[in-house]
Amino acid sequence: MSDLRVLFTRQQIAERVAELGAQISRDFEGETVTLLGVLKGATIFLSDLSRNITCDSTFDFISVSSYGNGKQNSGEVKMMKDVDQSMEGKNVILVEDILDTGLTLSYLTRVLEAHRPRTLRIAALLDKAARRIQPIHADYVGFTIPDEFVVGYGMDYAERYRNLPDICVVP
Ligand code: IMP
Ligand code: MG
Repeated sequence: MSDLRVLFTRQQIAERVAELGAQISRDFEGETVTLLGVLKGATIFLSDLSRNITCDSTFDFISVSSYGNGKQNSGEVKMMKDVDQSMEGKNVILVEDILDTGLTLSYLTRVLEAHRPRTLRIAALLDKAARRIQPIHADYVGFTIPDEFVVGYGMDYAERYRNLPDICVVP
């Protein structure tokens, strides 16, 4: 754990998440938003983001398999847990920890468009823009980062480090 390098401190994260929450609150003023978190990495981001959103909101969660148990992306996305309720007619904001190759979010976008939501947006805490394979664009991005493997604030390496309050780089 000692060789982890801090990339964003808890304070930097809190400030940026507050800005994103304010932006979402303005964009959806007077409306209801459904925050749809991608398990498990996005849970801490969703819990902080939601408390910075002043609109009426509901939560739902979805789980997909992508990376397996390490740093390698298998390239395959599989639904492990679908939404509890239909997203039809709702203002859905997909809440994701990292937008990397875009495979996960392009898959989820396709799945959710089939529900015919009123609006569908993406909030990604981190964006590894240089790694993109699928042309996916997030509407709300916390930070754009270089191609480094990060952990903390919900994000894991083989299920470890999710509870770190700062976002750190794994050497
Ligand atoms: P994508 O399908 O390649 O965009 O992968 C997105 C998913 O890969 C994210 O939801 C993360 O769970 C995981 N991921 C990508 N990069 C990292 C990282 O640096 N640390 C931890 N998880 C990552
Ligand atoms: Mg993950």
